[in-house]
Amino acid sequence: MLIVFLGKLNRYVMLRGSPGFYTYALLERLEGWPSFLIQEGRIVFKLQENKFHYMAMSDERQRFMPMYEDRKSGEPLAYKEAVLLKNATNPEFNGEMFISRHYIGTDIDVKFETQDNWKKVIGPNFIYLNSNASALADPSILWNDAKLRLQKEEADWPYNFLHSNEYLKSDQRGSITGQLLVHDRLVSEQPMPAGSAYVGLAPPGAAGSWQIENKGYQFWTRTNEEGNFEIKNVIPGTYNLFGWVSGVVGDFKHVSDIAINPGSSVKVENLVFDPPRNGPTLWEIGIPDRSAVEFFIPDPNPKFKLHPYKLSIQKFRQYGLWDRYTDLYPKNDLVFTIGTSNYKTDWFFAHVTRKMGETEYAPTTWQIVFNLNTVDKQANYTLQLSLASATALDLQVRFNDQISPPHFETGFIGRDNALARHGIRGLYRFYSIPVQGLKLVVGENKLFLTQANRNGSKLGPFNSIMYDYIRLEGPTPINVGVAQQKQNM
Ligand SMILES: *[C@@H]1O[C@H](CO)[C@@H](O)[C@H](O)[C@H]1NC(C)=O
Ligand SMILES: *[C@@H]1O[C@H](CO)[C@@H](O)[C@H](O)[C@H]1NC(C)=O
Ligand SMILES: *[C@@H]1O[C@H](CO)[C@@H](O)[C@H](O)[C@H]1NC(C)=O
Repeated sequence: MLIVFLGKLNRYVMLRGSPGFYTYALLERLEGWPSFLIQEGRIVFKLQENKFHYMAMSDERQRFMPMYEDRKSGEPLAYKEAVLLKNATNPEFNGEMFISRHYIGTDIDVKFETQDNWKKVIGPNFIYLNSNASALADPSILWNDAKLRLQKEEADWPYNFLHSNEYLKSDQRGSITGQLLVHDRLVSEQPMPAGSAYVGLAPPGAAGSWQIENKGYQFWTRTNEEGNFEIKNVIPGTYNLFGWVSGVVGDFKHVSDIAINPGSSVKVENLVFDPPRNGPTLWEIGIPDRSAVEFFIPDPNPKFKLHPYKLSIQKFRQYGLWDRYTDLYPKNDLVFTIGTSNYKTDWFFAHVTRKMGETEYAPTTWQIVFNLNTVDKQANYTLQLSLASATALDLQVRFNDQISPPHFETGFIGRDNALARHGIRGLYRFYSIPVQGLKLVVGENKLFLTQANRNGSKLGPFNSIMYDYIRLEGPTPINVGVAQQKQNM
């Protein structure tokens, strides 16, 4: 179901002397109404084609855009939103693509049961309209002016001019301050400040549940170098405090609920995030940052024009990269050897299917080859596996045996479609997989990562996994076990 916020739902505010308008939606459902899902909510503006030609999303992503009519003479590609431009009004666009639709997975639907009584204010959003005659030659004039305006809007938020009782003013809200530390016992003896970490209040739930929560309100910020943070203007209610730290696997959740009251401030001290860790690192692949951006990203097929985004950081924003796997690995699947392979050049950024024909795609199996000098057969090892995105696949993990039932299986997961959307991350998933020492051998070992074909359903180009980070840990050292036991007592 697509809900476009229209008429009654939507409210508009214009302020004297302010070039633009504010819009917000007040959504409400009463108890007893039938259960249903909201899959997408959007505010849609139809822009005049003769006025709007340039789009700026961020400092790095700005460009003149093709027109709707340019699509008509184009060649349709792997999904209907993708068209290879052949005869564009601006000939410079020929060989390019235009994409419109937003994809979303069912995991983040807003779900309602009959007994739910629910209200939510979405917005206000400010639609700022600026113009400058010199911008025809230099569009950055408008962009930079809009950025200045954004600073002003941020400073004014939450707005005091709305008359709706549902929209709480600053003095009706509360705040929270604190410090987040991270304590990976095998990295440092003492907890270390979690600098630049993401910290947020979201409705109560399991660690990481904030990712798929959008029925209530969430308030997020980033910590400073010392791990200190402050979140202001929080709507009163009961929350959990969540967080994640770039460079550290797993999700932080503070043990107790946080009650935010109007006009008051909560102080939480000594928040220590104990990230997953059972033993010393035997090897690792990638950086635990919830993205696949650090892995090998190919150039697109020369048939498609390279988008002029900053290639060093945006290389993944190109059409058709999924099919480059089959070009690079025409016969045998990817094999990554610990000690000689380099994840920046030898780990394809997405574990994709193999193109077998025009519309045929086959599952693939990747291998990680690693050596162990000693193996404690009685002990447990741990595979820490985190995914940056998944689309309609089952991932199976096997050690040293490609035929037996999998050692571990994710089950059928993912509707992120990050690959088709030229993204590099979707929902974050983390698996801590115990591996019995019996499965390992002294000398060469092989870890198989296999795409499974669920119920024999047909695979396409987008069934894929993006790995975030993989780490094999040795057996738990005795002192760490003791430290953890003490913590749990
Ligand atoms: C390309 O577009 C122009 C102008 O719209 C049109 O006259 C021409 O026939 C088109 N060429 C092709 C090959 O479609
Ligand atoms: C247009 O942009 C130029 C360059 O930034 C600036 O000097 C000028 O004041 C702007 N004009 C208006 C009307 O904002
Ligand atoms: C290894 O893990 C298994 C299953 O989780 C557990 O039963 C066993 O006690 C563990 N062995 C050691 C040595 O920790």
